[in-house]
Amino acid sequence: MEQKKTKFIDLFCGIGGFRFAIETVGRNRKVPLECVFSSDIDLECQKTYKANFRDPPCGDITKINAGDIPDHDVLLAGFPCQPFSIIGQMKGFEDIRGTLFFDIARILDTKKPRAFVLENVKLLEGHDKRRTLKKILQTLTDLGYYPEYRILNALDFGLPQKRERIWIVGFKERKYIQWPIGGVPMKALSAILEKDVPEKFYVSERIRNKRWSVLKPTNEPTIWHENKAGHISAYPYSCALRAGASYNYLLVNGERRLTPREMLRLQGFPECFKIVCNDSQTRKQAGNSLPVNVAEAVIERVFEAMGLGKSHKFNEYHYRYERTQLRLLEEQERYNHERTKIKNRRKVSPTLSVK
Ligand SMILES: C[S@@+](CC[C@H](N)C(=O)[O-])C[C@H]1O[C@@H](n2cnc3c(N)ncnc32)[C@H](O)[C@@H]1O
Repeated sequence: MEQKKTKFIDLFCGIGGFRFAIETVGRNRKVPLECVFSSDIDLECQKTYKANFRDPPCGDITKINAGDIPDHDVLLAGFPCQPFSIIGQMKGFEDIRGTLFFDIARILDTKKPRAFVLENVKLLEGHDKRRTLKKILQTLTDLGYYPEYRILNALDFGLPQKRERIWIVGFKERKYIQWPIGGVPMKALSAILEKDVPEKFYVSERIRNKRWSVLKPTNEPTIWHENKAGHISAYPYSCALRAGASYNYLLVNGERRLTPREMLRLQGFPECFKIVCNDSQTRKQAGNSLPVNVAEAVIERVFEAMGLGKSHKFNEYHYRYERTQLRLLEEQERYNHERTKIKNRRKVSPTLSVK
């Protein structure tokens, strides 16, 4: 007998970071999936999405009637950070109209999927003295969901990119979600970098010499990051890719820009991902997207909580969990060793708070 398909929708779909993740989880857990709706306003993103998944996404979500969206079990949305500036001040559900979060809320209200996964920048957590996040969680609760959130870093999930993001999940029925905590060894940068990089990605001699006068390239490749104050630091991983970053924000060994394929790899996109737009569009798309590995880990746990499919990765995740626990214990020892102080003639070990 054919298994019932779990239906999902992909809002603000961009180039499909969420979709790659959910489809991998579906394959691994043997859960047949069907994407019944996707939307992105950007025509170049639509082109890339269509080339990779065949379905052409719909456009502006604010113009789409929630009732016209097919029924679904899971709603996915990596929504833009545009509403932040105003949302925290707003009073009720009606008040958030005009923000893109409102469009997620009205679809949840009409279609009532069993679960949702939202992703956004870490800044959302503390924005406007946490009023923005509180407003979002309150709205989701008022809609009858049990929402929870975590900040997760792509570096903890095997990607050589420091990208911290907020993940908000919610269930229509109260569920226990065991959030992933990472502990996955980081992929080496050398496995991400391309071998023969065209000349056009190299910076001018003047910029290179300026960089090399501050730092020297090492045997192992590093990514040099220039912060807003103009300070340069080199790491064996990339700082967060950004869609609108200046050209020389990240330079491999201080001498060349990342190629679009390297940027996609840093976000965990598979090699089969089809690049169909020009370099500058693809850079923007990769910078706007999400770390696929983290999305996969979160969705894996959402499916687990929903009782969908079999946990094929259980042993691996369990192992990762154990590894992380072990690391925490080791850190605790080190921390205690370094920080144990003699206070009132008694040894006092500071407690380690683990979030
Ligand atoms: C942060 S990106 C999400 C990227 C996506 N998660 C991915 O994996 O590529 C936000 C996306 O929202 C889209 N967007 C902005 N306003 C929109 C609207 N009114 N309707 C539909 N999409 C919109 C942007 O074009 C952008 O691709």
